[in-house]
Amino acid sequence: MLTIESLTHLGLGRASDGRSLIPRVLPGEEIDVAQDGTVRIVTPSPDRVAAPCRHFKSCGGCAMQHASDEFVAGWKQDIVARALAAHGLHPAFRAIATSPVQSRRRAKFAGRRTKKGALVGFHGKASHTLIDVPDCQLVTPALLATMPALQELTLLAASRKGEADLTVTETALGADVLVGTDKDLTPDLRVTLAALANAHGLSRLVWNDEPVVTINPPDQDFGGTKVTPPPGAFLQATKAGETALLAAVDEITQGAARIVDLFAGCGTFTLPLAARAELHAVESESAMLTALDRGWRAGRNLRKVTTETRDLFRRPLEPDEFAKYDAVVIDPPRAGAEAQIEALARSDIKTIAMVSCNPVTFARDAKVLIDAGFAMPWVQVVDQFRWSPHVEIVSPFTRK
Ligand SMILES: C[S@@+](CC[C@H](N)C(=O)[O-])C[C@H]1O[C@@H](n2cnc3c(N)ncnc32)[C@H](O)[C@@H]1O
Repeated sequence: MLTIESLTHLGLGRASDGRSLIPRVLPGEEIDVAQDGTVRIVTPSPDRVAAPCRHFKSCGGCAMQHASDEFVAGWKQDIVARALAAHGLHPAFRAIATSPVQSRRRAKFAGRRTKKGALVGFHGKASHTLIDVPDCQLVTPALLATMPALQELTLLAASRKGEADLTVTETALGADVLVGTDKDLTPDLRVTLAALANAHGLSRLVWNDEPVVTINPPDQDFGGTKVTPPPGAFLQATKAGETALLAAVDEITQGAARIVDLFAGCGTFTLPLAARAELHAVESESAMLTALDRGWRAGRNLRKVTTETRDLFRRPLEPDEFAKYDAVVIDPPRAGAEAQIEALARSDIKTIAMVSCNPVTFARDAKVLIDAGFAMPWVQVVDQFRWSPHVEIVSPFTRK
């Protein structure tokens, strides 16, 4: 018999033998592991719950459905607290903002042809098996409703042995679907696909890099301004998560008349903040900034917004470039923003709203700012990746 001592940041249980890492267990649980690796829970934790989704046993889409919401919230906050503590930082935490069940508005499904037709779903736990997920508790009902369209697309996109990637994003006027496939887009196929998109009420259908048809604008709404993102472009995973992050960023930058939004994407933060401040949006993907700029031009009652395509890893804004701004919003990818944070540390900027999806790089970058005289009054964890090990973090950094 083994006892689970703690969980890793990926949610695996560290067992008392000092070497086993066991999935889907909780600290304090006593378990038996059979010869074939089957785990039997002998003494369950009081935090163990019946999984809300009937697919949990086989599906690999979720890792933590066996734990109560309270446990997952505490565990996620602890991951961030530990990453910060490793740098000697012990800030106060605001209450976690967890997105509701069935609120993921973007998902990447896989599709495979079968003898009977097509199977669309997520991969199984640690396997290449595809699991059909008609009652998935993660994604929005609108995404689940695209399954018949995705199955038809799979018949056209997947080769005999291979899979098709199906990235689906909810929009107000139908799903925005990006198909990743080895198959070429022939003129005949284009006609078939356009008819399929029309019949299933998709807003847009894109085949690899090639747009097939746009039936309705696949717009996202950023604070009342409509933006048409490039296919598959970054989008916060849930509307609730986006709202929580924006509320924090808005609060941190209150009173700032000129804000620079670094790693701005399509304008998730830029456009809502432009209702009260002038914004400069910097980002490496020019297509995202084109979308942001178009949205701004068609938007109403917005202050001036400028955009700049720039690789902020290689060419971060220099310290003196911040002289024009009252506040900075920074939301880098998982790698963090080492070079840009070092330049910010050397600048005279007083207010930074930092958003991050990686506790390790967030803590590293936070430490540089703290050493440069910033305070970190609070940290908030935003959980828009329910039942997964992912976390999103938002925090102010301020100095006098
Ligand atoms: C986590 S996303 C945030 C986007 C946006 N703030 C939002 O909330 O929708 C990170 C963004 O950084 C951009 N990015 C990645 N590497 C970059 C780089 N080296 N320089 C500038 N932008 C980069 C990505 O294209 C992406 O839009």
